[in-house]
Amino acid sequence: MTEILVHAEAGVMTITLNRVERKNSITSDMYGAMADALERALGDDAVRVVLFQGHETVFSAGNDIGDFLHKPPAGSDSPVFRFLHGIASFPKPLLASVCGPAVGVGTTMLFHCDLVYAGDNAAFSMPFVNLGLCPEAASSLLVPQMLGYHRAAEALMLGEPFMAEAALEVGLVNRVLPPTEANNYANAQARKLAAKPISSLVETKRLMKKGLQPQVLQQMQDEGESFRRLLVAPAAKEAFTAFMEKRKPDFSKT
Ligand code: COA
Repeated sequence: MTEILVHAEAGVMTITLNRVERKNSITSDMYGAMADALERALGDDAVRVVLFQGHETVFSAGNDIGDFLHKPPAGSDSPVFRFLHGIASFPKPLLASVCGPAVGVGTTMLFHCDLVYAGDNAAFSMPFVNLGLCPEAASSLLVPQMLGYHRAAEALMLGEPFMAEAALEVGLVNRVLPPTEANNYANAQARKLAAKPISSLVETKRLMKKGLQPQVLQQMQDEGESFRRLLVAPAAKEAFTAFMEKRKPDFSKT
């Protein structure tokens, strides 16, 4: 699969979103490829750290909207939920390098990464409501926790983007860099981690996460049920059709 590139070197598995002409929007096949890569990384002692990256102009436009319209994920074993469960429960360190737009899951997946580096062109947004949907990836729990309730409501209800510096201020991002440097810097940080004792890294991550982990998994399940119901409801159909037809959605009849 050329739209997801997987490369392992020096203890670091790098998963690259490589569908730039569609702004790295993610199809169910791409979710499947990333979920498979995470499974391989989990079982392979030679992989100590996983790094997600996109292109210096775009991280991801989120879920492929044509896919949402024509093949909505049907159950909790669908590729997207396998991927979300994979990142939420991945025991080894996860890193991300984010430049340009990070829409929908392009932002929510970052709440499951341990270290996030951003280009100064990064723009984070979670426009689920604008698409007739609701938050996923436990973002309805993790975003208010990190941003505070009112900033979370702005991000999740208005769906307005926030830029790299704001993400740095709230703690979603560790460091902001020129976009041409972000992937290399994240890779260097990943290699630093990969050289450390893996059992200590895994234990440290487990201890930091264990308080919230059961809630995260439960929230993802609750969100998943609502998300699947809303995906096939009139508001989402109108939003997706409007996107495909390059017009503004009309929610007045939904
Ligand atoms: N699903 C399917 N196709 C998408 C897509 C998505 N999520 N995001 C972008 N594309 C397509 C566009 O339709 C366009 O196709 P075209 O060349 O046939 O017209 C192409 O990718 C380039 O996108 P474009 O919108 O022209 O790029 P841009 O640089 O002006 O804007 C974004 C980039 C990411 C801000 C914008 O594409 C966008 O908002 N995409 C939708 C994001 C979204 O709502 N995702 C769902 C989240 S749950």
